[in-house]
Order: sequence, then structure tokens, then C-alpha cells
Amino acid sequence: NRTWGVAVCPGDGIGPEVMAPTVAALQKVAAKEGLELRLQHYDWPAHAWHRDHGEMMPADWRAQLAEHDAILLGALGDPGPSSDPDRHLLPDGVSLAPLLALRKGFDLWACERPAVRLPGTPQYLADPRAEGLDMLVIRENSEGEYVAQGGRLAPGTAREVATQVEVFTRLGTERIIRHAFERASARAQARQAGERPPRTFPLPGGGEAAAQVCAITKRNAQAHWGEMWTEIFAEVAGDYPHIATHHELVDAACMKFVTRPWEFDVVVASNLHGDILTDLAAVLCGGMGVAPSCNINPLDRSVPPLFEPTHGSAPDIAGQGLAGPEAMLLTAAMMLDWMGEEDPAAARAGERLRLAVAADLQERDGEASGTRAVGDAVLARLDQL
Ligand code: IPM
Ligand code: MN
Repeated sequence: NRTWGVAVCPGDGIGPEVMAPTVAALQKVAAKEGLELRLQHYDWPAHAWHRDHGEMMPADWRAQLAEHDAILLGALGDPGPSSDPDRHLLPDGVSLAPLLALRKGFDLWACERPAVRLPGTPQYLADPRAEGLDMLVIRENSEGEYVAQGGRLAPGTAREVATQVEVFTRLGTERIIRHAFERASARAQARQAGERPPRTFPLPGGGEAAAQVCAITKRNAQAHWGEMWTEIFAEVAGDYPHIATHHELVDAACMKFVTRPWEFDVVVASNLHGDILTDLAAVLCGGMGVAPSCNINPLDRSVPPLFEPTHGSAPDIAGQGLAGPEAMLLTAAMMLDWMGEEDPAAARAGERLRLAVAADLQERDGEASGTRAVGDAVLARLDQL
């Protein structure tokens, strides 16, 4: 049995609140399944660290985190008195939201945000077909609209011009699209094996696929990357003839996420489009409070992936014990799934944790009950399962 080292970064706002029950749940589930976890706590990146040290993390942050197999993060975003709340200086002087620095620092180029509707979560869509929603949004996490290139010319003057450059590389596009097809293949296999509810999508040459990948662009207005993305999508799709394909412009995709989300399966989108679509997808599945997320490098398991819920630090409800820990707990389950690709004890632990959260949500059926109570209820469930 191998030992898994996890850097636990509770972060800001509700981050520490939702992390506390999650660490307790991880310890319990690990003990139950014979999983060896070594958790090490880091107070950075967080508001307190920033206030005392004037920077988001110590200069050797990358080396320190690289010692671990995975990073589990609560939430980032400084609601405190500092003038520029979401931006911190990296040791090399680059100003970035701290989350982006972590993702970039380890080249975690794939962001996975499953949108699975669990019974008992708020249902914002009236159509009953939205009840069994099960999609996976894969967001390109390393380039695109998030490259931090551009600038402001003649700032503050009437002639001011701000540019924000978008960069899409063939390498970055190809690997994220291929990853989406890999995930779709796994879903197809699980459906055929009866491990997931069956679904079918028409294939262009006749016949049916058990999974689909939908590419998102805005190629009618942003032709350069839109054409390259579409071209690469077609090339990669050629390697997966058993997977159905689809294309949506991002604006139409937003509309269809709301009117018929059950038609989507795996969705692959650029950094910014994926950011926007995953907030929307989270709400279709009960809200930000139950939306897990991970940032991984699928081609390099030696860098620690970063597991963080889709939600932020929620300063409006921080410190009151109101935040639901479900998103954080489900994010920890995603981390266990990732470990589970190598370690059967972790795979069992992930499954058990997810079942416990789902059972608790179902029992409460929409009744909110606060961070503590939900955490305790999930811990109790872990014993019963
Ligand atoms: C997210 C967040 C971040 C992003 C922010 C905090 C920079 O919204 O993880 O979705 O845009 O990626
Ligand atoms: Mn976001």
C-alpha cells in the first residue's frame, strides 16, 4: 500500500470552514478503506498570509507543494481590507489571481467540472428531464483568454486602449480535446458495462455512440482560433470513431444548457468559455454549493493536481457556519478517484464518500442545515455505508 501525501490549503473565507469537515471525512474514509493518507496543512495562500507577508505564498511555494501527490484547496479570494483583493504578486513579479498561479505553476492544463444532479439539491429547471443531468465540462486551463498578455496604453487618458491577448496553441488545443475524447470513451465503456445509466447519440455514418463530445467555440466571430479548434477537433475525433461529436457556439450553448442540458455529455471549451459554462452547469445541478472541480495534468502524474470546488471564498456568508461543505466533500471524492486510478483503496474511499454525501443530500431534500450539521451527518453516514 502506498502513502498519498496531500497538501491541504484551506484558503480564505468559507474555505477553512468547508475544509474542516472534509479533512475529518477523508481521515475516516481512509481508515475504513485502508488508505494511507498523509495530510499536511498550509496556511497559504490565504488572506492572513498575505497580510503578514505581503505575498500570496513563500518564494519556494512550488518546491514545497511539489513534495505532495495532490493539493486540496478550499477557496481563494481575499475579502479583507487589502486594496486589490483578488490579485497577488508571484515571487517573479507576475500579478495573477492566486488560483491561476497554482494552475500555471504546475501546468495543470485540464480542468474537469462534472455537472451531475444529485437528488435533494435545489432544482432550478422546471423540466423533469433535468433531474438526471450528468455532464462533464472539460475546460482548457493553461492558455486561451487567460494568458495575461496585453496591457493598457495611455492609462486614464481619453486615448486609453486596453488589449487582452488570447493565445491558442496547437499543442494546448490538441491535448485538451484528446483528453475530452478519452473521458468520453471511459463514459461510453461505463455505460456499456451498466455502471452508468445508458445513453445513446447518433453517429453520422449511422449507428449509435454511447458518449458524445461537444466542442465549444465562437468561430463565427473569432475565426482564427475557432477554425483551428474546429480543425483539430475533427482530427482528434477521427481517432475515436465510436464517440459522437457535436459543435456549439458558446452563446447558443448557454441557451441550450438552460433549455435542454440533458442533450450534453462531455463538453470541451476554452479557458474563459469553460469558466462561464461551468458556473452555469453548476447551477443546473443544484448550485455552486455542490459543484466539485479538479485541475490536472493528465499526461504527467508527477506534478500534484489541484482539487478545489468551483465555488469561491463567499465572503458574504463566511464565518457564520452557513456554507454547505458538499462541494468540498465531492471535490475530495474526486481526489480519491484520481488516486484510485492507481490505488484500489482510494477508489473505494472515493465511492464511499460520494455515496455518503449523496445520501445525506437526498435525506435532507433541499433543507439547508449548515456546515457543522452536514459535516457531522456525512461522517455518521460513512459508518453506516
Ligand atoms: C474559477 C474561478 C477562477 C477562474 C478565478 C478566481 C480566476 O472563477 O475557478 O472558475 O476564472 O478560473
Ligand atoms: Mn469561475
